[in-house]
Amino acid sequence: MALLDGKTAVVTGAASGFGRSISRTFARNGADVIVADIRTDPREGGRPTHELIREETDQHAYHVDCDVTSADDLAVAVEAADELGGIDIMVNNAGLFRTEEFLEVTEAEYDQMMDVNVKGVFFGAQAAAREMVERGDGTIINMSSAAGYSGASGFPTYCTSKGAVRLLTYALADRFGPEGIRVNSINPGFAETQMMAESGLGNGIRGRIQDQVLRRMTPQRRYAETQEIANVALFLASDLSSFVNGESILVDGGLTNTG
Ligand SMILES: NC(=O)c1ccc[n+]([C@@H]2O[C@H](COP(=O)([O-])OP(=O)(O)OC[C@H]3O[C@@H](n4cnc5c(N)ncnc54)[C@H](O)[C@@H]3O)[C@@H](O)[C@H]2O)c1
Repeated sequence: MALLDGKTAVVTGAASGFGRSISRTFARNGADVIVADIRTDPREGGRPTHELIREETDQHAYHVDCDVTSADDLAVAVEAADELGGIDIMVNNAGLFRTEEFLEVTEAEYDQMMDVNVKGVFFGAQAAAREMVERGDGTIINMSSAAGYSGASGFPTYCTSKGAVRLLTYALADRFGPEGIRVNSINPGFAETQMMAESGLGNGIRGRIQDQVLRRMTPQRRYAETQEIANVALFLASDLSSFVNGESILVDGGLTNTG
């Protein structure tokens, strides 16, 4: 029996990067998946996630147009799971990253990032929890970051948003633990998804120097593979983590707790 047999997951931002890897990993482990994203084609190229899952596994997979800044869109994505037996696992993964100088951040830039990274997680968790409470079962996984633990001058809005996601996770674990719902976050270090590739980190001459610095800052001297994030999501989604609640798991090669 596979770890997620009979389960249905909704994964936001699942067209690309971590969300794509998490969705494929869940499907390989027996889950049906709703791919909730504003786009269908992966940012890194390749076949849409839901098509790939259907090709690779016997599981059901559907794409739902979902902008996580809209609570209505999130509710529609969660409802889409009803046709597959109802939502068991919610992964609030969609997010934006930007390097910036604090003194120059505009209100519009701040709002845009907080809307996706925080509001999107807040109302994604709310939509999922409303369904899960009725069933008395479920697990919610929020994508925070190592930047939700330690501050960095180069991306203050991002740190603000990811710290909020970590604390929201704890608040929801407290709220829903008695109802049989576990809520945890994943806090990755650097990974080479399109988000990182297009961020200015790791690109160009300045980027190449930063790239060496980032790797040196990480005791394992490399970036994360998306599969390494997906493996932790699989653990948190499954009964292997049945007494893990209100936890934020660093998956950063030792970056945060050393140096
Ligand atoms: N890549 C890293 O180094 C890293 C490190 C720590 C945390 N994270 C977090 O992991 C998550 C995924 O990052 P990634 O690296 O896979 O990024 P990515 O850019 O590769 O993929 C993000 C996906 O989210 C989708 N998305 C963006 N805005 C959306 C919206 N408003 N509604 C719905 N979907 C939307 C995009 O279309 C894309 O498919 C993010 O929350 C990010 O902050 C990434």
